[in-house]
Amino acid sequence: MQPAESTPVETTTNRRKFIGGAAVAAAAVNLPISACAQVAGSDELKLALIGCGGRGTGAASQALTSGGTRLVAMADAFSDRLEPSLSTLQAKFGAKVDVPDQNKFIGLEAYQEAIQKADVVLLTTPPGFRPMMFKAAVEAGKHVFMEKPVATDSPGIRTVMEYAKKAEEKNLKVVVGLQRRYQKNYLAGKEQVKQGLIGDVVAAQCYWNNPGIWLVDRKPEWSEMYYQIKNWYHFTWVGGDHILEQHIHNIDVINWFMDDEHPVAAQGMGGRERRNDRKTGQIFDHHYVEFAYANGVIMNSQCRHMPNCWNQVSETIIGSKGTLYFSDGGTQIKDRSGKTIWRYRNTDEDGDPYQNEHNELYKAIRENKKLNNAQYGATSTFTAMLGRYATYSGKMVKWDEALAWDNSEMPEKLDFKTPTRFSPDADGLYPVAVPGKFDPSKPLGYA
Ligand SMILES: NC(=O)c1ccc[n+]([C@@H]2O[C@H](COP(=O)([O-])OP(=O)(O)OC[C@H]3O[C@@H](n4cnc5c(N)ncnc54)[C@H](O)[C@@H]3O)[C@@H](O)[C@H]2O)c1
Repeated sequence: MQPAESTPVETTTNRRKFIGGAAVAAAAVNLPISACAQVAGSDELKLALIGCGGRGTGAASQALTSGGTRLVAMADAFSDRLEPSLSTLQAKFGAKVDVPDQNKFIGLEAYQEAIQKADVVLLTTPPGFRPMMFKAAVEAGKHVFMEKPVATDSPGIRTVMEYAKKAEEKNLKVVVGLQRRYQKNYLAGKEQVKQGLIGDVVAAQCYWNNPGIWLVDRKPEWSEMYYQIKNWYHFTWVGGDHILEQHIHNIDVINWFMDDEHPVAAQGMGGRERRNDRKTGQIFDHHYVEFAYANGVIMNSQCRHMPNCWNQVSETIIGSKGTLYFSDGGTQIKDRSGKTIWRYRNTDEDGDPYQNEHNELYKAIRENKKLNNAQYGATSTFTAMLGRYATYSGKMVKWDEALAWDNSEMPEKLDFKTPTRFSPDADGLYPVAVPGKFDPSKPLGYA
């Protein structure tokens, strides 16, 4: 894998390999049937894909593989992303991909029209847009698959938390793409912890250390907004920074094993040691955070985007009687003497967690079973965000205080001519958080 700093236009990371009766709902939620997404047993479910990039194409593929589904609408900010996605899906799924020209929607607000066409919407844009899209989908009474992270700032998280409750009230099913929760070795490990094999959880560690990520080169004809959205991973307001974007998977596992409790405070350190070309964006290339839970348990978390360093993507749950490891070495529990006392062996029946999460979603819709991941998706997103606030500021940050901050840097109007909230300075450099100076409680808190 190329380091991000030297990567040409839109090189992809390994993770992009993954392309790899209505009456019931209406009655349950006091909605008119016309306003309510479809749930009847054998009815075909209509899908709208919003954000037709690598993951969106993969999610649509999994949704179509689940069966009884048809893709009827697509929306993307850019037609040069929508069209290749459509061709890929048509080649694989034929008539199950039924997206006439009038159901292709282009632009930053295109999601609104696509949502109206479907029973289930797949929200796979960059995460800065997730809260407004989730809100629109729930208001329209649609079931949702949405990717993680689910927001990039505190107001966005509050929106997702609010609409997570509304989705519950409306009996809508919501799956969030934190697929380790649908991965058999993780589920088996969780069961062992529940049975007491490691005793009480006393500490946890998690890592997402790898060489880096793609970078999009600017073209002279692009507006600033166009560039920031094309190169979204590198701008905090739209991408969230890699502690949210990728490390959230590991952080979510720890929250899950803490019975979905969340940390109450965080402090840490981070910076840009190798990602030092401020002309290409703002995000850090390393974060190290100590998250403190109310019961005194500490989660140590580290994420790094740097070539030629120790790579590690894993989670470790330390208990009073033993330690559970999810790592390349396999899923196992060792007792305090270091002896392996339980091991998970993968089987062909385990399935692909990306497929499993979609299978569960459509099953829940058809059988009208409760399924709503939005609250834990928001909690784990905000945990990662708390970590970012800690590393950007260099301060101890508290959950309750930070959740109330009004720090959104989202542009007021979404179109490519609108000025972004910040631009590069005369030397072409973007503002970057400096610990001890940056104030995460407000927008543009760069001193
Ligand atoms: N669960 C996982 O393992 C996993 C893996 C990869 C990506 N993801 C998540 O999926 C999301 C997308 O990642 P990706 O790798 O597919 O990125 P991507 O850049 O390939 O795709 C994002 C797409 O959204 C489009 N877009 C941007 N703004 C939009 C808007 N306002 N309206 C409509 N479309 C818009 C872009 O043009 C692009 O086509 C991210 O949140 C990422 O974290 C999750």
